[in-house]
Amino acid sequence: MRIVVFGLLSAALLLIPSSQAADNAAIKDKAAACAGCHGENGISQTENIPSLAGQPDQFIQWQLVFFRAGSRKNEQMQPIAEDITNEDIRNFGAYFSQMTPPKAADDSDPDLSSKGAQVAAGRRCGSCHTDSFAGTKGVARLAGQREEYLVKALHDYKAGARIGGGVAAMADVAYHMSDEEITAVSHYLANFK
Ligand code: HEC
Ligand code: HEC
Repeated sequence: MRIVVFGLLSAALLLIPSSQAADNAAIKDKAAACAGCHGENGISQTENIPSLAGQPDQFIQWQLVFFRAGSRKNEQMQPIAEDITNEDIRNFGAYFSQMTPPKAADDSDPDLSSKGAQVAAGRRCGSCHTDSFAGTKGVARLAGQREEYLVKALHDYKAGARIGGGVAAMADVAYHMSDEEITAVSHYLANFK
């Protein structure tokens, strides 16, 4: 009997968090389900899965809304986002945005990076993503993101497989990029310090 009462009480507490601390504990539990793919501390070790640590709060929230609505399509993320509540979306945004962003390792190909730097300057990536490529509001962090994921994302925008927010700003940017430019700028950004 006691166990049943305790169970009911804790369920009620989860639904109506009584304090910020309870909130944090609940979201930490839920984020454990994300770590299997997005990595411990929000830093992905898996090909084609992005790191989430240090992404802007609003960017994370918008992407979860897009997956839930089906306007951003991905076999792995859509089932996860399907039943997600607005409150969870807000909490995930706060949780991952406060984590330390991934740090770039040593650059394996500085020549490719300097080509990528020219692409980024010429196409004014920093005008939206900020000069440090840390992102802001609905605009993604790019610095230190996994290289092959950046390549994939740019090809998805270019092919129209991903439309994105911000009046489809990225579809417009990527449409005009060559494959060589995508390769170079992704290398530059993944290694950006
Ligand atoms: C089974 C693996 C898997 C799990 C579990 C998973 N994700 Fe993802 N997630 C992905 C993949 C793959 C992508 C990239 C999709 C693409 O290429 O468009 C992604 C993308 C995202 C993005 C967009 C990031 C960006 O940079 O565009 C967010 C935000 C996100 N996931 C949040 C979460 C949250 C929150 C959880 C836990 C509730 C979670 N994911 C669990 C595989 C997973
Ligand atoms: C006019 C503003 C603007 C410019 C210029 C711009 N971006 Fe973006 N970028 C955005 C916005 C907004 C998003 C989020 C789109 C979404 O919701 O999918 C984004 C998202 C991205 C993503 C997806 C990141 C992720 O984690 O999923 C990549 C990669 C990217 N931009 C690369 C670039 C590169 C490289 C350039 C320069 C060649 C560039 N962007 C120029 C606004 C811009």
